[in-house]
Amino acid sequence: MLNELNQRFSIPCLTFGQNRDGLIFAKIQTAAGTGELFLQGAHVTAWSPVDHEPVLWLSQMSNFEKGKPIRGGVPICFPWFGPNEQDATLPAHGFARSQEWQFVNAQEKEGDAIELHLETAIDPFLLSFRVEFGAALKMTLKTQLPVDAKSAHSFEDALHTYFSVSNVRTISIHGLESTSFLDKVDHAKLKSATNVPILIDSETDRVYLNTLSDCILNDVQKKRAIRVAKLGSASTVVWNPWIDKSKRMADFGADEWPDMVCIETANIGDSRIQLAPGESHSTTAVISVGPLSLSSNRDL
Ligand code: BG6
Repeated sequence: MLNELNQRFSIPCLTFGQNRDGLIFAKIQTAAGTGELFLQGAHVTAWSPVDHEPVLWLSQMSNFEKGKPIRGGVPICFPWFGPNEQDATLPAHGFARSQEWQFVNAQEKEGDAIELHLETAIDPFLLSFRVEFGAALKMTLKTQLPVDAKSAHSFEDALHTYFSVSNVRTISIHGLESTSFLDKVDHAKLKSATNVPILIDSETDRVYLNTLSDCILNDVQKKRAIRVAKLGSASTVVWNPWIDKSKRMADFGADEWPDMVCIETANIGDSRIQLAPGESHSTTAVISVGPLSLSSNRDL
């Protein structure tokens, strides 16, 4: 399969490789930057636009094994988010992130970008994931309910993006100030908007509700701002496991929590998507990096 992929898609900026466990990945190197994607989970594991440090965080302790989720990058959560409410034995965040996806196409785009297209099926849905690695990272998860499906079905999804930060205690996240949220570290209580940017100083696990807003992640020490723009997504999750939860996760280094924060482009809970036969829905996240644009509330 590796040889076949390298022959079928002989584009100079794209090569396929395979790790020791047989997982196939695509490596991108263009004038706009570098990137990496594993076919298992259609999982983006790296993206660095030219002249920038890596934007995505990946755990040193991650599994890269068949059937096990990768810790970091952009796991795709589908068709549910978090634990399955009906059956706790089913995998957290659904099947999409740990099953094999088919590589459909690679296409060069304007601006030295390259778009990869993958597909999979999770009964009764057909999923298509397009990711463009360029000066921005554009990801679209399209979910289709085939026309011959017997009834309507609903799903949750998330592009569970892990960002690399200088120190989570010194960043600020802007864009969700006026949004209420479910606080998963406080019995999933519904909490009112705080009207201030998010500063992280303890375990944080929040589902922001009914928000279409862009988020800006300001990282003063790295002298950069990351913008997460989105379409077709009504929830945003912000997550950092902090000290104790990091220790409980086998695939997360106990001292890695200061290095990351997740800002997840999602449709969760009341914002789950309902499709009638023949309908589809697209969830898009566009990540870009620039100089610091907003002032941080943090004293460094
Ligand atoms: C976040 C959830 O999106 O993912 C957290 O809000 C969860 O509750 C985290 O702990 C990581 O999940 P997992 O299944 O990858 O360990």
